Amino acid sequence: MSKQDSKFFNIFSLVLGILIVITVVLFAMARSVGDNTQKAHLLSDPKYVAAVEGRVGEAAVAVVGQDNSALAIAPAAGVGPLVAVALPDDGPAVYETVCGACHLNGIAGAPRSDDKAAWAPRIAQGTTTLYKHAIEGYQGKGGYMPPKGGRVDLTDELVQAAVDHMIAKAQ
Ligand code: HEC
Repeated sequence: MSKQDSKFFNIFSLVLGILIVITVVLFAMARSVGDNTQKAHLLSDPKYVAAVEGRVGEAAVAVVGQDNSALAIAPAAGVGPLVAVALPDDGPAVYETVCGACHLNGIAGAPRSDDKAAWAPRIAQGTTTLYKHAIEGYQGKGGYMPPKGGRVDLTDELVQAAVDHMIAKAQ
């Protein structure tokens, strides 16, 4: 860089710096002037005041020791009491609603319930092992069988019944 260039560069940087400082100062001044004028006008504007009162006026505050029943939130129309998702209540029903999600079409590496070749060696392990794997979950070579097929709310007996149902289908 020639001497002249670096001199120009220095001056140019200085000018830029000064301009930035002026910008910041102007911005701060504008804010403070705005607070005393525009903001004051805004806060006393009837429309603004009405809007705020509309919102604050509705606000309900519960007070200790007083009857606050008026504050109770009414349930939205059409929303009944929460109903627990119905539990399937026998082996085939569990199979249809839960296990079939994977075992019907062999999703996620699950042995298809009608794939006799896939089931023969599994059945050969004995029902105790199959029950255990179905209830506690099982990581096999083909994939992961989640505990109770992901429905841990099912009883062990229902899962066993579903296993029985699957075994019957695979024979
Ligand atoms: C999210 C998918 C999925 C669901 C839902 C599912 N399974 Fe499985 N299941 C698998 C997979 C994957 C395997 C194969 C694991 C392996 O051997 O690689 C398997 C394997 C099995 C086996 C054989 C275990 C063994 O030792 O060979 C049984 C029994 C079984 N499932 C029963 C059930 C029952 C009963 C249900 C319903 C309550 C169910 N599964 C729901 C994915 C699922």
